Amino acid sequence: MKILVIGSGGREHALVWKLAQSPHAEKIFCAPGNAGIAQERLAKNSSPVECVNISAEDLPKLLAFALEKKIGLTVVGPDNPLALGIVDLFQKNGLRIWGPNQKAAQFESSKVFSQNFMEKYGIPTARAGTFSDATAAKKFAGELNGKCAVKADGLALGKGVLICGNVSEAEKAIDEILISKSFGAAGAKIVIQEFLEGIEISLHAICDGKTAKLFPTSQDHKRALDGDKGLNTGGMGTYSPTPFVSDAELKKIGEAILNPWLRGCVEEKINFCGILYPGIMLTKTGAKVLEFNARFGDPETQVYLTRLENDLVELLDASVSGALDKMELRWKPEASVCVVMASGGYPGNYEKEKPIRGLDDAAKLPGVKVFHAGTAKKGNEIVTSGGRVLGVTALGKDLKSAQAAAYAAVKKIHFDGAHFRRDIAAKALP
Ligand code: AMP
Ligand code: GLY
Repeated sequence: MKILVIGSGGREHALVWKLAQSPHAEKIFCAPGNAGIAQERLAKNSSPVECVNISAEDLPKLLAFALEKKIGLTVVGPDNPLALGIVDLFQKNGLRIWGPNQKAAQFESSKVFSQNFMEKYGIPTARAGTFSDATAAKKFAGELNGKCAVKADGLALGKGVLICGNVSEAEKAIDEILISKSFGAAGAKIVIQEFLEGIEISLHAICDGKTAKLFPTSQDHKRALDGDKGLNTGGMGTYSPTPFVSDAELKKIGEAILNPWLRGCVEEKINFCGILYPGIMLTKTGAKVLEFNARFGDPETQVYLTRLENDLVELLDASVSGALDKMELRWKPEASVCVVMASGGYPGNYEKEKPIRGLDDAAKLPGVKVFHAGTAKKGNEIVTSGGRVLGVTALGKDLKSAQAAAYAAVKKIHFDGAHFRRDIAAKALP
């Protein structure tokens, strides 16, 4: 089968790497890909993965490419093409594609849609209100004493959530989104949620419209600096599994979220094929959904796919065909840790084109896989080309050894201004 993967980050490198191990994969293209993706080869025939210079948002060009190359399965990584309706477009043209259609992608592309859905179908979430009027929004924020999360409705490059500790911060946040329109049309409406305290974890479930199969737990580290300080980022590192939820608790949490979610999808005629990724807060009164994403997390994918034993082509194919009920997910018992190495200054301004050294030495370490995100080839060198540059990932017999292996690999890699957190998975260790 010929496969096209869409996207260019660490998530897409992990997807390509895992798909390339499948005997079903005869050729893999990635649009637009990165320097690490271009180094992968297929297990079946050693053919190199080919990066194609088409942006993940250029739907007409992606469609023309997939038709011309007779792609058997397209796999969508990022949220934007999903929200733009790439799945609907490809299906209309007779192509098999994995990911939620535009209606189903609303779970991520509209926080108002998700919040209303959760309330309608009894999915555990924060107390919340949805508003387009600033006066009504401020009244609700006042009822919460200003301790709340103010969220722009639409996609805002991960920056649309403002956490407030008092009434004046909340009013400022409401004005910023609804009046000053700092997120443009994405902020025409907002969701205000009560501030929830607890441990935050990531859940993933693969879905085919009728069945949802839960992955093990993972935890991201969203702040830029050690000790969860500094600015919010796309994610500075992950590990799986987390010790905060036992298998029995995970089963209960999964059922409390996924059973009403599936019921709601049937009721609303939403055919969700892809990954549902709920962000969860483990509060004193139980697990609550903060938000839904409609795709694989980045860098959650890096730790999940290093642990997954199933053939990923078979799994995604079952998700597209509605045959997930016949699949059993199998996971390595080992733990996985991913440490993101970022450009100095990220998530603010940063310089690019810094040569990266030591990649080969790092790759030689046992259990280590270095996933590329913002990298490019310049002459014979691999250089930085984005904020998050690498996801240095390692498997170990337990979290402690996986963490030690990941940091041993990080130590081998150098580029000017490299920045990474030194405490990935530390919370989970005694
Ligand atoms: P979201 O994109 O909705 O997940 O929000 C981004 C981040 O803001 C989350 O990862 C949480 O750390 C934080 N957050 C969102 N909603 C809440 C909430 N209701 N209470 C506390 N923190 C929140
Ligand atoms: N790990 C955060 C995200 O993918 O949204």
